[in-house]
Amino acid sequence: MKASAPGKIILFGEHAVVYGRPALAVPVTQVHADVEVLDSSRPGVWINAPIIDLHAELTSLPSDHPIASVILKLIQLFGFSQTPGLEINISSTIPVASGLGSGAAVSVALIRSLSSFFFHSLSDDEINIIAYEIEKLHHGTPSGIDNTVITYNVPVYFIKGQPIETFKTGKPFTIVIGDTGIPALTKESVGDVRRLWLKDTHYFENIFNEIAQISLIARRSIENGQPELLGELMDRNHALLQKLTVSSPELDKLVITAREAGAFGAKLSGGGRGGNMIALVEQARAESVASALISAGAKRTIITEIS
Ligand code: PMV
Repeated sequence: MKASAPGKIILFGEHAVVYGRPALAVPVTQVHADVEVLDSSRPGVWINAPIIDLHAELTSLPSDHPIASVILKLIQLFGFSQTPGLEINISSTIPVASGLGSGAAVSVALIRSLSSFFFHSLSDDEINIIAYEIEKLHHGTPSGIDNTVITYNVPVYFIKGQPIETFKTGKPFTIVIGDTGIPALTKESVGDVRRLWLKDTHYFENIFNEIAQISLIARRSIENGQPELLGELMDRNHALLQKLTVSSPELDKLVITAREAGAFGAKLSGGGRGGNMIALVEQARAESVASALISAGAKRTIITEIS
C-alpha cells in the first residue's frame, strides 16, 4: 500500500507562530515523501529508509525514534497484540532538516500507508493529531504548522491551537526556493529564541507582534489578488527574523542575491540558521533568479507557483 505527502514552505510568521501569532504556509508538491507498506514472509517490521541510512527492524530502534514511534502508535491504535511480517519502504525527495517539512511528510505518508494497509481509515484530523505528536519528537515544542499544512495539503493561515483556516489566492504568484544546503535543526533555533525571549520578553514580544501584523497583511494581499505587495513584506519579515538571530550569513547572501537578481522580496523560511530561503518573483524572471541563487552558492532551487 503506497501513500505520499508533499513538502511545505512557510511564507510568513515562522518562530512568532510558536508564541501564538499567525503564520502562512503552503504545500510544495514538487517534493514529496513516499511510503510503501508490503507483506513480508520474514517476521518483524523491517524499515528501509535510504535517505537517512536506516535499514532496521522495528524492535531494534529506540521507542522515541520518530519513524518507530509512528509505527508503534498505530499498532497500539489498531489494537494489534502481534504484527504480521511487514516491509516498509520510505523514500523522499524533500531535503532533510532544511525547513521543507521532511519529518512531517514522512510521518503523514507513513500513517496513511499503514492505515490503508490495515483497512483502518483515519480522518485528516486524526492523522494530523498523530503527526503532531511525532513532530514533538523532532522539534521539542512545535507549533504544529508543518503537520497541518502537509496533512491537509492546502494553504494554511495557522494559529497554534486553533481550528485549521485555509486561504484562497486571488491571483497566482511565483516563489523561488533556494537551499543553502546547510542542515539546521529547528529544535535548536526554536530553543535559542526561547532563551532570548525569557531574558527580554518585552523586546521579543514586540518583534512577534510586528511579524503577526505582516502575516495578517500578507493574507489580505494574497486573498485580494495583490501578491506583488508580498515582496516588501518578505523583506520586513526577514529583517525581523535577523533580530531573532535565526538568519545566517549564507541565508542573508541568498536573500540579497535574489533581490539583486530582480525578486520583489525575499526572506528565510522555516527554522533558519541554514535550510531554505524564498523569493517572490515575476514568473518570467523565476529561472534567472534561480540561477543567480545557484551561482551564489545555493545547493538547489525549486520554482513553485502558489495558486
Ligand atoms: O524549520 P521548519 O520548516 O520545520 O519550520 C519551523 C517553524 C518554526 O516556526 C520555527 C517552528 C514551529 O514549530 O512552528
